[in-house]
Amino acid sequence: MLQKSNPKNDNIQVFIKDKLYPRSEAKVSVFDSSVQGGDAVWEGLRVYPEGIVCLDKHLTRLHESAKTLAFADIPSKEFIKKAIKQTLDANGMTDDTHIRLTLTRGEKITSGMDPRLNQSGSCLIVLAEWKPLVYDNDHGIKVISTSQRRNSPQFLDSKIHHNNLLNNIIAKIQANVAGKDAGLMLDDRGFIAELNGSNLFMVKDGKVFTPFAHACLPGITRNSVIELCKKYEIEISEADITLSQFYNADGVIATGTMGELTPVVEIDGRIIPKGDKLQNKIIDLFTKEVRRLCEKLD
Ligand SMILES: Cc1ncc(COP(=O)(O)O)c(C=O)c1O
Repeated sequence: MLQKSNPKNDNIQVFIKDKLYPRSEAKVSVFDSSVQGGDAVWEGLRVYPEGIVCLDKHLTRLHESAKTLAFADIPSKEFIKKAIKQTLDANGMTDDTHIRLTLTRGEKITSGMDPRLNQSGSCLIVLAEWKPLVYDNDHGIKVISTSQRRNSPQFLDSKIHHNNLLNNIIAKIQANVAGKDAGLMLDDRGFIAELNGSNLFMVKDGKVFTPFAHACLPGITRNSVIELCKKYEIEISEADITLSQFYNADGVIATGTMGELTPVVEIDGRIIPKGDKLQNKIIDLFTKEVRRLCEKLD
């Protein structure tokens, strides 16, 4: 699955630090920390006419990631909401929109890793694009397990939603080489962690399982699915799950803001059934409830 550029995004306005710029002029300095060391945190947000899905949870995760990385001058939720609203209004976006919200440690006075070189505060970027769900959720996606492991907390805690995405990008390259849609990443012990850009659930014998969030991003869509299962009394548990268990699942679902809920129909050449009753039920419940999870910007 290769995303295409959408001509509707050719002339979008992008918010950087404190104001909007046309796409062609939307740039950060070569001294910005994101360029220097991938020293930034980010969120992906989805916009519906009802608002932004789980906005507060996303802003909390952005704040917590920035605090863990000891960013100075973290913009308040109110400031970020205003910046998002300004960007969406400027682009006339109320639906079919995905926002890449990035907070970099900001510009450095000279190149180098040391955060003390950052003396002009952090830099917020609101990049809103026309972008409907990116995966083919009707037909599902095919994935391959990769040799690249997902970080465990002793290396770089997967609970920080940071821009050091290289281990996930290497997994994606391995999937591309194999002609598959996404790379399935194991943790350092060999249990399933997640896909390179989304979380995983499996359905087996009327129960739902998802890997512990030890080595995956604790995704907000993942959390919504867990909450939905609890609300509708579907048995759900976090567990250490092996590839073999996923190969033999009754159904597998990938979750994330970019694609929402996507059936996985093949793992390492093993066909995974699609259309299991419980798998369909979870997807239907999410599709019905996602708009209830939206938060309006004032
Ligand atoms: C590595 C990774 N896993 C999972 C997800 C899904 O998270 P969410 O549901 O919060 O979009 C993302 C999204 O950014 C991600 O980058």
